[in-house]
Amino acid sequence: MKRLVFLGPPGSGKGTQAVRLADRCQIPHISTGDLLRAAVAQQTELGIKAKAYMDRGELVPDDLVLGMVKTRLGEPDTASGWILDGFPRNRAQAEALDAMLATLGQACDYALNLEVPDTELIQRLLARGRQDDNEAVIRRRLEVYREQTLPMLAFYESQGKLVAINGHQSMDAVTAALEDAIAV
Ligand code: AP5
Repeated sequence: MKRLVFLGPPGSGKGTQAVRLADRCQIPHISTGDLLRAAVAQQTELGIKAKAYMDRGELVPDDLVLGMVKTRLGEPDTASGWILDGFPRNRAQAEALDAMLATLGQACDYALNLEVPDTELIQRLLARGRQDDNEAVIRRRLEVYREQTLPMLAFYESQGKLVAINGHQSMDAVTAALEDAIAV
């Protein structure tokens, strides 16, 4: 059973590595970014509200994201474990996740933080070119990460769950480091 939170700045490889580990451990990969992009594409009420924040590189308001995650974690495939990618993103979300998990009789095992220098992040994202991968929005996403997400790492460190992983190496080397860290 693995319950994993993937942390790290935009472009650090959270999505790439979460897909690989989810496949290896046979657990669902839950990306709040993917869920939000699907809601935007389907023009749901949530998607319509979220789009303006995503286009600016700002965090979508907590109440919208928390409702979405709660629904997803309540689905039956999560009983065998899960990987959360891109959530939590701030202290309030981290505390809300713990409370949500407590009601399910669960707790996260590890918070895996992928570390990559900013210059590399910007190069990777510009090369990818998603809707929110233009230079101005990338810079804002990095600022938001530093202001709101980075301080949250102390929350997981104080619980003894934070593991730093060097994300500035080949994808296979990062996967190997993650597998070592969680012993799979
Ligand atoms: P989200 O979708 O979570 O985007 P992000 O955090 O900005 O992360 P990315 O998907 O850009 O990067 P990643 O770390 O997953 O890296 P990836 O594997 O893709 O969020 C988007 C927006 O949604 C947010 O700005 C916000 O508005 C909203 N949102 C989402 N969650 C939210 C939440 N919890 N609360 C509020 N708002 C929320 O890799 C990037 C590129 O690098 C790829 O091209 C990949 O091929 C390449 N790459 C990966 N690894 C390597 C490597 N080792 N070497 C070379 N290239 C690599």
